[in-house]
Amino acid sequence: MRQIGVGLLGLGNVGSGVVRLLAENAEAIEDRLGAQLVVRAIAVRAPDKPRAVDVDPALVTTDAGAVIDRDDVDIVCELVGGETDARDYVLRAIDRGKHVVTANKALLAVHGEEVFTAAERRGVDVYYEAAVCAGVPIIRALREGLASDRIESVYGIVNGTSNFILTRMAEEGAPFDEVVRAAQEAGYAEADPSFDVDGIDAAHKLAILTMLCFGTSVALSDIYIEDIRSLSPVDFAFADRFGYVIKPLAIARAHDDGLELRVHPTMVPKSWLLASVPGANNALYVRSYALGPSMYYGAGAGMMPTAVAAVSDLIEVSRNVLANAAGHLPLRSYARMPNRPVRDIGRLDTPYYMRFGVLDRPGVLGQLTTVLGDHQISIAQVVQEGPREPERPVRVVVLTHAARESNVRHALAQVAKLASVVEPAQIIRIAQ
Ligand code: HSE
Repeated sequence: MRQIGVGLLGLGNVGSGVVRLLAENAEAIEDRLGAQLVVRAIAVRAPDKPRAVDVDPALVTTDAGAVIDRDDVDIVCELVGGETDARDYVLRAIDRGKHVVTANKALLAVHGEEVFTAAERRGVDVYYEAAVCAGVPIIRALREGLASDRIESVYGIVNGTSNFILTRMAEEGAPFDEVVRAAQEAGYAEADPSFDVDGIDAAHKLAILTMLCFGTSVALSDIYIEDIRSLSPVDFAFADRFGYVIKPLAIARAHDDGLELRVHPTMVPKSWLLASVPGANNALYVRSYALGPSMYYGAGAGMMPTAVAAVSDLIEVSRNVLANAAGHLPLRSYARMPNRPVRDIGRLDTPYYMRFGVLDRPGVLGQLTTVLGDHQISIAQVVQEGPREPERPVRVVVLTHAARESNVRHALAQVAKLASVVEPAQIIRIAQ
């Protein structure tokens, strides 16, 4: 039986999962592929580190370049993560005429153009299903399943750690720091959770989704990104009371004059399917012209879910190798498509939740609502809560109708100058 050689770069969590899946599903993979997928060599940084899987020590080396350059390696599977070394390895693999499978969203979000252009020139494949929502086959769905349709918008929960934290905060009424510690203990959050909770990981994934859905390459600086750190238990209680759930959304929407791209905590109506996606799960809700809504859901992180995506890519690339058909699928999803401009966040038009801390004095509510009205912000509901005590702030929560973000920002700057407003306002955008 014909063999396809795989050079593995990285034997951490995902790399170990790939080795395990290749071994445990070997028979099914052979049946599907009509060939064997064989790991020829594995590059690691620390050979003596304990691993989640047993591998033949003769396969292991610290020399990634030597793995890439082996004549019997057809596909390089890059699972080292990060941007710098991974970029060098992937470009070297492409230069040597090797196909690449990667799980590296940061690499593709930052250096995607360089990597894809090099691969197209060299006539090799770069597959990256594991980079977005792990084993949930969203890249295939967008690139192949919806190739006939025109995508209008995607609303995604693409970061499991943030979703886990916000789910716990909603369920337990616990503050952010306490839940992050619990998430770290449960193995969901990293020791330094910044990448996840600051929205960077989600923005990397949104950049890849934007390329797939709209044929547009964007820089991270084109995406409006907000962290989830400032959310307080009281916001979850108000969200529940008004019929919403707070979710960490990544949103891309096409407008006639450009793309709307944003990552931030969002109040999602409880009736939406996305509101019911719990814990560390991921989901993507896609609206397209002909199909209408479709939704993709599942585990977006972890050893075996991520390995499923990487090994399925190894199978797909092997099929291309066997059929001499590398490059038959455009790597970016579009053979050609002019980049669309990205809209400034100031042009966003959406309803808002606004929480103010004010002194309970006569006329304060009037001042607040006057400023909002002066900025064309129409109020849908107002609630005031808290005991009336001298010089102790009470909470005023305002839900608005759809308003312009630039108007909201100007209004909030003016509200902050009011003498009776004694706490910074908390703003959460409401999905519509
Ligand atoms: N850290 C990511 C998450 C998984 O929490 O979803 C890998 O992208």
